[in-house]
Amino acid sequence: MEQGKPVVVSGIRATGRLHLGNYFGAIKNFFPLQKDNECYFFVADYHTLTTVPDPASLRQHRLPIVKTFLATGIDPAKATIFYQSALPEVTELTLLLGMVVTVAELNRCTTFKEMVAKHPDNVNHGLFTYPVLMAADILIHRAHLVPVGHDQLQHIEMTRSFARRFNNQYGEMFPIPKSLEHEAIRLPGLDGNKMGKSDNNTIDLLDLPQTVAEKIKQALTDKERARRNDPGDPDNRCASIFPLLLLLGSDEEIQQVRLDCQSGQLACVDCKQKTAQLINHLLEPMQAKYAAISDEAALAVLAQGAKKAEQNAQKTLSEVRHAMGLD
Ligand code: TRP
Repeated sequence: MEQGKPVVVSGIRATGRLHLGNYFGAIKNFFPLQKDNECYFFVADYHTLTTVPDPASLRQHRLPIVKTFLATGIDPAKATIFYQSALPEVTELTLLLGMVVTVAELNRCTTFKEMVAKHPDNVNHGLFTYPVLMAADILIHRAHLVPVGHDQLQHIEMTRSFARRFNNQYGEMFPIPKSLEHEAIRLPGLDGNKMGKSDNNTIDLLDLPQTVAEKIKQALTDKERARRNDPGDPDNRCASIFPLLLLLGSDEEIQQVRLDCQSGQLACVDCKQKTAQLINHLLEPMQAKYAAISDEAALAVLAQGAKKAEQNAQKTLSEVRHAMGLD
């Protein structure tokens, strides 16, 4: 373990194909962190099963996340990449941390309440203890920083209180980790709602240029522009295309589109074509790198990552067991 560098931990669930929302909302933010931190990036496969209890789906979607990490420049020589389920220590720490967690606070967790409302037929124990497993993911590596999107901030808050409580009860064990909130992005899907696989409104990282162009063609823009030369209001009324451009275009490109849309010179069809090009420009090099990574190579990265992560995990767990009287 490199001494002195802050420890960064983050995970991604393998619930489906990765899309631009996952890219801008998470993966893109990992790459710059690996330079100055000791990073642990993993596929949260246990967490996946809390809402998608489908073995075939899990098998299909785990490895692509690893390849995407590699294709976006995450370097296994600098960052440790692994499957959550490869570290048995994490599950044991989950059990042990559970002793300082109350049922009441798990019941108050917003994501839990949302999931109960969304899937009343599948309120399983894994879902209930989701924040404890997540805290174990983080604390097992004694992380200092956890890069996450806005929707995960409450989980980090909970991790912080579990860690404080553990330290109070059993002696100093864990640094209190901080969340590193990704730059707040507003990336709507093609229908103007939040981009998410369940809404069928995504552009996937492995979509071919033709698919991207077709999807973008169907995307919702400014409902109040009935004719192609009606003046638009990209900042306030464009449901999906302009927000994408804001992430993809240069400042000059964005400003030009804004002015030309406002004046009515730039029709939505033309703007869409431009946006599709920019997306493909981002995706093509990533897809080329992705295609060059064999399953074997990705599995080798995982094996090496698990080994390294496990050293850490064993050390923390044995100290925790000792602190709790289990030696
Ligand atoms: N719950 C996170 C999400 O859905 C994924 C996750 C699991 C995670 N364990 C983690 C993120 C630990 C950061 C740290 O996005």
